[in-house]
Formats: sequence, C-alpha cells, structure tokens
Amino acid sequence: MGPVLIIGCGYLGRVVARRCQRLGVPVVLTTRSEERAKRLANEFGPVVHRLDLAQADAAAHLQALGLHAQRALVLLTPGALMDEAGGMAPLQHLCAGLATLPRLTRAVLSSSTAVYGDRAGQTVNADSPCAAVSPRERRLLEIETHWLGSQGRRVVRLAGLYGPERVIGESGLRRGQAVDGDPDGWLNLIHIQDAASLVLRCLTDHAGVASIELGSDGAPVVRRTYYEFLAARLGCRPPAFSGQPAVRGGASRRCDPRLTIERTGWRPMYRDFRLGLAAELPTPIPR
Ligand SMILES: NC(=O)c1ccc[n+]([C@@H]2O[C@H](COP(=O)([O-])OP(=O)(O)OC[C@H]3O[C@@H](n4cnc5c(N)ncnc54)[C@H](OP(=O)(O)O)[C@@H]3O)[C@@H](O)[C@H]2O)c1
Repeated sequence: MGPVLIIGCGYLGRVVARRCQRLGVPVVLTTRSEERAKRLANEFGPVVHRLDLAQADAAAHLQALGLHAQRALVLLTPGALMDEAGGMAPLQHLCAGLATLPRLTRAVLSSSTAVYGDRAGQTVNADSPCAAVSPRERRLLEIETHWLGSQGRRVVRLAGLYGPERVIGESGLRRGQAVDGDPDGWLNLIHIQDAASLVLRCLTDHAGVASIELGSDGAPVVRRTYYEFLAARLGCRPPAFSGQPAVRGGASRRCDPRLTIERTGWRPMYRDFRLGLAAELPTPIPR
C-alpha cells in the first residue's frame, strides 16, 4: 500500500498507525491538540502534525500534508466534522483538502453503527436501511452521505470500541456508579485491533469491499450480561441499573458483520467481548 494519511490519530488511529509501520507503509498523522501531538511524536517521530478542521485554512493545510498520500483514513469523532452552530464547515474543509491531493485514490471514513437507530433488538447488517432518529444519528448520516458523494470513498460503521486502557463501563463500575440504559438492551462491541484491521482492509483495492461496511464482533450482548461479566472480572460489586436512559449507545439492535466478512475477507480475532476482555483484564481480580 502507498503512503497513508491518517486524519484524527486518536485511540483507533494510533493502533492503525502502528500496523502501518509494521507493514512498512509510510504514514502522515494528524491530531488537533498539542498534548496528543507530542505523545504521538514521541512514538512516531516527525510524521505527526497538528490539524484543526474547524480552522478556515484547514483545506490548504491538508493539501500540504497529503501531497504524497495515496490513501486517507479519517478517524475523527463526528463532533470534529461539525462547527459549534451545527454547520458542516469542518467536513467541507476536509473534503476540499482531500480533493486537492494529486495521488489520492481511496479514502475511508470511520462512522458508527448508531446510524441504524433503535431496532428493538432486531438484527442489522452493513446493507440494512438506516433509521437515524436522534440528532446525533441524523448528523452522522448526513456526514456519511456528504462523504460518499466523491469517488473512491468508503465508510466503515463501527460498534463500541474497546481495548487497552479503554474498557467500556470500567471506570463507572470501579466508582460504584449505577449503569444507565435498558438492562435488557443489546450492546455491540469491537476490539480495537479488529477495528484497525477492518479499516485497513477497506483502504485496499480488494474487489469485494462495498462503499459501506460494518465492524462488530458478531456477538451482541445484553447490557446486564456485559456489566455482570465485567464487574466479576474487575472484582467489583454486581452492577446496579439506574433506570435512566443511556446518554450514548442506548438504542437496541444486534449488529451482524457476516456480510462485511464475506465481502472483505476480514475476520475479527476477538469474536466475543469475553475473549477481548480476557486479553485486556488478564486475571480476574479477587474481591
Ligand atoms: N469510541 C467508540 O466506541 C466508537 C464507536 C463507534 C464508532 N467510533 C468511531 O471510531 C472513530 C475513532 O474513534 P476514537 O475513539 O479513536 O476517537 P478519539 O480517540 O476521540 O480520536 C479522535 C481524533 O480526532 C481529532 N480531532 C477532534 N476534533 C478535531 C478537529 N476539529 N480537527 C481535527 N482533528 C480533530 C482528535 O484530536 P485531539 O484529541 O488531539 O483533539 C483525535 O486525534 C471515530 O470515527 C468514531 O466516531 C468510535
């Protein structure tokens, strides 16, 4: 693969960048904050640059950074693509900058399975119609639609990311906080290593990859089961449920990645959250 520009090198981006380095693929990495840029530069060296897409000169900055890039990965949180008034200026800066890159042939945007909306526990796959209802879901869909309007663009919709230093729900359980959200609602997860391998797969010219793919481990879990397992693993008290709706990730659906697996040849290594948590929290901590 030719040089890859990774825009928004946060939790997922860093794992992807490490993989590229191991494969000998040159990278250019961007992040917004000085603090993260320093940490990344310690690991990756002078290929790290600060970029804020909200700035008026962002497209020109991107043009300079991506001069040699053949592929681009956009791993930004959705908020990064909107301005404070809810406008799409940062997304427009991004697309305008990418459009100037002379060697760019493929660009992948990471999005979220939130766009499928609440399905009352029904199963969805990459090709299922979206049912975006909440303002966040609708914004995500709007971003995806704009993004897919140019050639060579793909979207990967990811389930809840977890991995080293980011186990969903861990800090709340450790603090003894009650869990928000329906205890019988479904959660969908993906280990960070599997998310990284999928976005990289979608960046290749592999013929089967569709313009929209879905990344999840294929083993949706009921919230109560997840939190009970995690609490036991952490040596915490069993979870209590607050009865309040979840601020994020409250919609209930079951994500099925089999279509994406068939089309892309990608396979998740961690096919169940228990396997992934065993890797992150190797030994159950005695109470
Ligand atoms: N986390 C999840 O559970 C989850 C679930 C589904 C989908 N996803 C998707 O997965 C992708 C990666 O998530 P992540 O957890 O790796 O995100 P993250 O750690 O929060 O990283 C986001 C990156 O975007 C940069 N950024 C933020 N605002 C920016 C702006 N205005 N201009 C330029 N860069 C900006 C951040 O820079 P600074 O930090 O330096 O400001 C950081 O490098 C995202 O697309 C997310 O929507 C995540």
